[in-house]
Amino acid sequence: MKALFLITLLFSTFLIFYKAYKNTEKAVLNKVKLPAFDSHQQQGPLLHILQISDMHIEKISIPPEQVYNKLAGEKIDLIALTGDFLDKKRTIPKLIPYLKVLQRLNVPYGIYVVFGNHDYVLKQNDFDMLQDVLEKHGCKILQNEHVAIYFEGKRVNIIGVDDFYTKRSNLQKSFSGLKEGYDLVLTHDPNIVLNMKNYHFDYLLSGHFHGGQIHWPKPYHLAKLGRTMVQMNMIKGLLYYDEKPFYISEGLGQTSINIRIGSRPEITLHQLSLNKIQKEDAQSGHLMYRELSDNTLPLPQ
Ligand SMILES: [Fe+2]
Repeated sequence: MKALFLITLLFSTFLIFYKAYKNTEKAVLNKVKLPAFDSHQQQGPLLHILQISDMHIEKISIPPEQVYNKLAGEKIDLIALTGDFLDKKRTIPKLIPYLKVLQRLNVPYGIYVVFGNHDYVLKQNDFDMLQDVLEKHGCKILQNEHVAIYFEGKRVNIIGVDDFYTKRSNLQKSFSGLKEGYDLVLTHDPNIVLNMKNYHFDYLLSGHFHGGQIHWPKPYHLAKLGRTMVQMNMIKGLLYYDEKPFYISEGLGQTSINIRIGSRPEITLHQLSLNKIQKEDAQSGHLMYRELSDNTLPLPQ
């Protein structure tokens, strides 16, 4: 009887781990439409962003071709890669086929990269090699800096804030000299959102949490990474803090044990309406005005 119980227990454990491993093999393509600030207004130019986060090339179960097949035919204007590519020198060559897939998508406004805590585990020489590989494959690296693109007549500021978890983020530097436009922030660790009361953004893309990775019965992966945000139930998907929208991707790869329970590898397509611009006074933290269509209107008190 005891032997039967043990066999059943072992078999059940094996099944759970097998199923949890299988969860890492099929990526979900999430499509997010950022709701308009004012639903009565026209949408205006729609910017389509592909976000891939937390590839963790050491433990990725999604082959490059699956990434391509999921995205071929989708409208994509620019690509945002929000960190944690890998943490071992020997896996840098494995990243290249994924970058080639992104190049094959031939997006008109480029590929933008910020780094995560795992990328900074690399020794300086190896980190330089990672940067080199990314740049050779058309990626623009942003470390506490911003660039601007003009999309259908609208200026879009792409603000790359370096990793908050490893204390490399510098918001002042990242936002320094920013001109009026749609402010899109790319960063790895979403915890930084809790420190951005005085920094305006229209949308922020992040990753880092892996959706908890083993999110049953609770998000274990977040015990160290995001205790405060977990308490606020901010773990994944489209969220708001201080009335500002931000997104936490579940990421494409895994860390430590290569399983997922209650979460799946994620590829995300974001559709943003650029007619909605909220501008915040960086000094006072108050809303000053919002721009809708071509008019600048005072906000009602
Ligand atoms: Fe990660």
